[in-house]
Amino acid sequence: MKKVIALVFSVFAISASAAEAVKATVHADQAGAKINKEIYGQFSEHLGSCIYGGLWVGEGSQIPNINGYRKDVFEALKALKIPVMRWPGGCFADDYHWMDGIGPKDKRPSLRNNNWGGTIEDNSFGTHEFLNLCEMLGCEPYISGNVGSGTVKEMAQWVEYMTSDGDTPMARLRRQNGRDKAWKVKYFGIGNEAWGCGGNMTPQYYSDEFRKFNTYLRDQGQNRLYRIASGASDYDYDWTKVCMDKIGNRMQGISLHYYTCTGWSGPKGSATQFDTQQYYWALGKCLEIEEVIKKHKAIMDKKDPQNKIGLLVDEWGTWWDEEPGTIAGHLYQQNALRDAFVAALSLNVFHKYTDRVKMANIAQVVNVLQSMILTDQEGTGHMVLTPTYHVFQMYTPFMEATYLPVDLESETIQCSKEYFKEKAQTADNTTRPCPVLSASAAKTTDGGIVLAITNVSLDKAQAIDFELPGFKAKSVSGRILTSKNVADYNDFQHPDVVAPKEFKDAKLNKKGTLNVKIPAKSIVVLNIR
Ligand code: AHR
Repeated sequence: MKKVIALVFSVFAISASAAEAVKATVHADQAGAKINKEIYGQFSEHLGSCIYGGLWVGEGSQIPNINGYRKDVFEALKALKIPVMRWPGGCFADDYHWMDGIGPKDKRPSLRNNNWGGTIEDNSFGTHEFLNLCEMLGCEPYISGNVGSGTVKEMAQWVEYMTSDGDTPMARLRRQNGRDKAWKVKYFGIGNEAWGCGGNMTPQYYSDEFRKFNTYLRDQGQNRLYRIASGASDYDYDWTKVCMDKIGNRMQGISLHYYTCTGWSGPKGSATQFDTQQYYWALGKCLEIEEVIKKHKAIMDKKDPQNKIGLLVDEWGTWWDEEPGTIAGHLYQQNALRDAFVAALSLNVFHKYTDRVKMANIAQVVNVLQSMILTDQEGTGHMVLTPTYHVFQMYTPFMEATYLPVDLESETIQCSKEYFKEKAQTADNTTRPCPVLSASAAKTTDGGIVLAITNVSLDKAQAIDFELPGFKAKSVSGRILTSKNVADYNDFQHPDVVAPKEFKDAKLNKKGTLNVKIPAKSIVVLNIR
């Protein structure tokens, strides 16, 4: 039986020395599904300085760049081996008219970013700039089309422009704009948040819109679109049900948006100043995505027992208050060790449901919400990698590895109901349990095992003995991400406060058991050979 610690404050008195080794098993003999690499997807939106100042500075910038792409950001992203990147939104997508972002840059009209602070953008980053970036990064593009304020013709022409290699009007226009060969575009979203900023539709109305738009999105040549419906937010199971019923296998994927956020109106809390309850609450809220996925999955399983239609968590991550002094509506937030836990715990859940969860895109890649990278807002050219970046980097061996179940019994911390009533404005008032220890494992493509372990306790180190049935371990190495405080973060003056280090406290004993001593508030990723 699982040990549950119900009173939050009593948790912190447990001493590290008193702890006995926890027994755990990595079932190398029970290999599951291949972990879709697309779970490590990114999201780039025209929002704040994600595109302008983040990914793109333009050829004429003082900041070192490669054909206009920020060099330091590009190189850091390349190291992450990003499998897929979504663009141009988000809410921005349903206000975006792609034809304004092609052709000579000095002839492109500017736009007002109506969703995000009313900022004026010059359209210098458009279809060519995004798709070329994806080619340079070696990732699949995921385009979000405009259903809310766009037309069927506009969307159909966009697909033709990007993917037709024939002598068609849009392919000719593309060639005129300097790109001869069609790009490969697999993932195509038909709208975004159609229940909200994407048109305030009902699921019934949206399903009809999907069917109409989809009819005219023609596969060009060898290119095959993977058609993605705009799916539910969080707990809106009816949305998924209606889309499954009415759209069915016309779609290959349906999205789900789930943010670790205290509510949609009023303050959301600081990214770097939070108390113990807020810390555990955030981890509990992020882990609740498992229940949410299970419920959407159950609805999908009924109609699609063979998992043909993917559930794509194409927006997820933490959403805190904007950093003081930054532009309102730009969603620029810091990123602490707490965010790194949210990343690790969420990725662990996605691994577990990889048969249905075929993609996930953290929001967003640079300078917005739970980003990988922050760039200096004054344009001085500084860049910093966030703790979340380090988790993604440490977790890269999970991409395309084969899921292995892990048994690990852990104490659980419960946030009190009173806390929710008082401070949170979430849809429900239930408690949110957070296990102190979590782990995820997989058999890597080179025959080893990757094992990620998190200890979210603020003060309790833990010894864990892992049995590895079905695997003969010869060596182990690893890295650890931790810091003095869970609120620690990296900034331009102190870029390495939270950075991975070599981990030496994992040892194989003669019987082949793996003994790990994981410090409080840390994430460890081990490579076992
Ligand atoms: O990620 C920020 C916004 O959150 C996206 O634009 C929108 O889809 C969601 O509401």
